[in-house]
Amino acid sequence: MGKRARRRWRVVVTAGPTREPLDAVRFLSNASTGRMGIEVAREARARGADVTLVLGPTSERPPEGVALVRVETCREMLTAARAAARSADLVVFAAAPADWRPAVRARGKLKKDGSGRPRTLTLVENPDVAATLGRRKRGRVHVGFALEVARPFFFARRKLRKKRFDAIVLNGPANVGGGGGDVWWIRPDAAPAALPSGDKRTTAVAITSHAFALLDASHPRPARR
Ligand code: CTP
Repeated sequence: MGKRARRRWRVVVTAGPTREPLDAVRFLSNASTGRMGIEVAREARARGADVTLVLGPTSERPPEGVALVRVETCREMLTAARAAARSADLVVFAAAPADWRPAVRARGKLKKDGSGRPRTLTLVENPDVAATLGRRKRGRVHVGFALEVARPFFFARRKLRKKRFDAIVLNGPANVGGGGGDVWWIRPDAAPAALPSGDKRTTAVAITSHAFALLDASHPRPARR
């Protein structure tokens, strides 16, 4: 590598759901498959980056050639993402971490008591991985996601500011239920740019392309550490 040659970008992607245990055999989770993040990780790798994929429980196959960190809970995802992000240039927050977890994890397997009475489950808030890392961003580029039903652009922009994202990928209401629909790339001071929304791979390639353009613009030289 010549002196002027740029080192490889270091990219971290969070993907998939998390599982928040209730007892030894039960958990709270959601239906995220992790596909979008997996495809972003694959594309970043194909473009020559060093990629760490922090992946929640999914049966989707992670791409070859990336450093894979498997996690279960949101708190594990935060720990893994924070460690990987330390030396990263770009972090893409494609995961759907559970917003709450059961306040206590029961030992063994909870028994039903047969009384027929409702049972109360106390939930506590999970940390926000993106917002937490956003507080100590240094020179990194952060890209987030939002799924908005009402006033999508307003709420996406609010999320962009709150979590200190450099760009946010907005999935409009048509995407609720995974049907496919409008997807937008939103930057703080620019008009939204439409992204192709046919299939996840195509959308992920476009997202990665936009994210790398941001990297090139914000890090004209490799950052010194
Ligand atoms: N995110 C995260 N950690 C969480 C929750 C969300 O890192 N505990 C990230 C996601 O990876 C995504 C963005 O934050 O990049 C989504 O933010 P969120 O506020 O959860 O948005 P929505 O899923 O759209 O939900 P809501 O509007 O109900 O808050």
